[in-house]
Amino acid sequence: MLHSSGRHYTAIPGPSVIPDQVLQAMHQAGPNIYDPKQYELMKGIQSDLKTVAGTKHQLAMYIANGHGAWEAALANLFSSGDKVLVLATGRFAHGWAAMARSLGVETEIIDFGLRSPIDQQSVYEALSADKSHEYKAVLACHVDTATSVLNDVQALRNTLDETGHPALLMIDCIASFGCDRFEMDNQRVDVMVAACQKGLMTPPGMGFVFFNDKAAAISAGKELVSSYWDWTKRSQPDEFYQFFGGTSPTHQLFGLRAALDMILTEGLENVWQRHAMLAGAIAKAINVWGSAGPMELNIQEPAHRSNAVTSIRVGAPDGTRIRDWVEQNAGITLGIGLGMAESHEPEWHGFYRIGHMGHLNRQMVMGMLGAIDTALKTLNIDHGNGALEAASAAMAEQ
Ligand SMILES: Cc1ncc(COP(=O)(O)O)c(C=O)c1O
Repeated sequence: MLHSSGRHYTAIPGPSVIPDQVLQAMHQAGPNIYDPKQYELMKGIQSDLKTVAGTKHQLAMYIANGHGAWEAALANLFSSGDKVLVLATGRFAHGWAAMARSLGVETEIIDFGLRSPIDQQSVYEALSADKSHEYKAVLACHVDTATSVLNDVQALRNTLDETGHPALLMIDCIASFGCDRFEMDNQRVDVMVAACQKGLMTPPGMGFVFFNDKAAAISAGKELVSSYWDWTKRSQPDEFYQFFGGTSPTHQLFGLRAALDMILTEGLENVWQRHAMLAGAIAKAINVWGSAGPMELNIQEPAHRSNAVTSIRVGAPDGTRIRDWVEQNAGITLGIGLGMAESHEPEWHGFYRIGHMGHLNRQMVMGMLGAIDTALKTLNIDHGNGALEAASAAMAEQ
């Protein structure tokens, strides 16, 4: 018998849980988009997004998902025949590289596999070997949402500095934004892309590209960028419609305003700390289950694990069995093991992922872990006992 009534909890790594405050803010009649209040709304959102990104530089906002933000960043900077170095630690940097190739940009990829972060020595060697500075940029994900690896952006910046290579540093923070510590200006990142549906807790549909003066100067010298993607007008608009290159996504902006208010009221440091505490508790539970069974964190080293998402190996078909059981009996949807398998089809039966980004607290994490614990017992999957106690203790220590 299935028992799934009660409030549903979607614990996939984005789109994330939408807070009631965000939903309620969106629940209103359509505004007059020419009202000066709309301009003020967008200006405030632009400024607060920069605060969350840790930058005083430019931000262009798009009606787009993360793929749109990827394309916007590339289209403003590169022309056919340009070359970039892509550092892959899972699925998503490959996606960004494929997008670049579709625009005629040549990509060289260093693939660090599915269980490791970027190795700085390899980057150092690749950049040092590029004597004629053919690489126009280095592209990497802060967090890869498939593997849940966290890359050290500061270390990557240092590597570029040590080689003296002038390539732009471009970081995808789509999974990590508002979850894992990131400070664009302090870490001297040149371009950063983000989206609204993960740490920003807003329904999917807005993409953001942050860029500094170095990137702006390069794009100014570029001959062709379509007017829709051109980031110049959007980042320094003198008319309200220039923010979005046309009609603004009014209700998403209402929602995003509420979400940013929540983040800034809690305080960004506290938001990061909460994500770290909850991610730490999840990791503790998985390690206990794995102490007497097949479950295992995909990323073993705590310093290399994201606070936004956790990817878990358990062996086929138990990843799917666990996900199905908790969805049908506990009202929780866990993430599929997208991009986690070395071999393919059916790629996700041996894996699952937990999204813990945005609107999340201790009781949600304990409930979710409790549901997985019950699934393990019901499905007779070997596991160590005491995972819930370990998670509770990890959260009590904070
Ligand atoms: C790290 C990362 N980059 C890019 C994307 C693509 O974003 P979207 O699905 O919004 O196009 C995702 C989506 O999950 C992601 O996690």
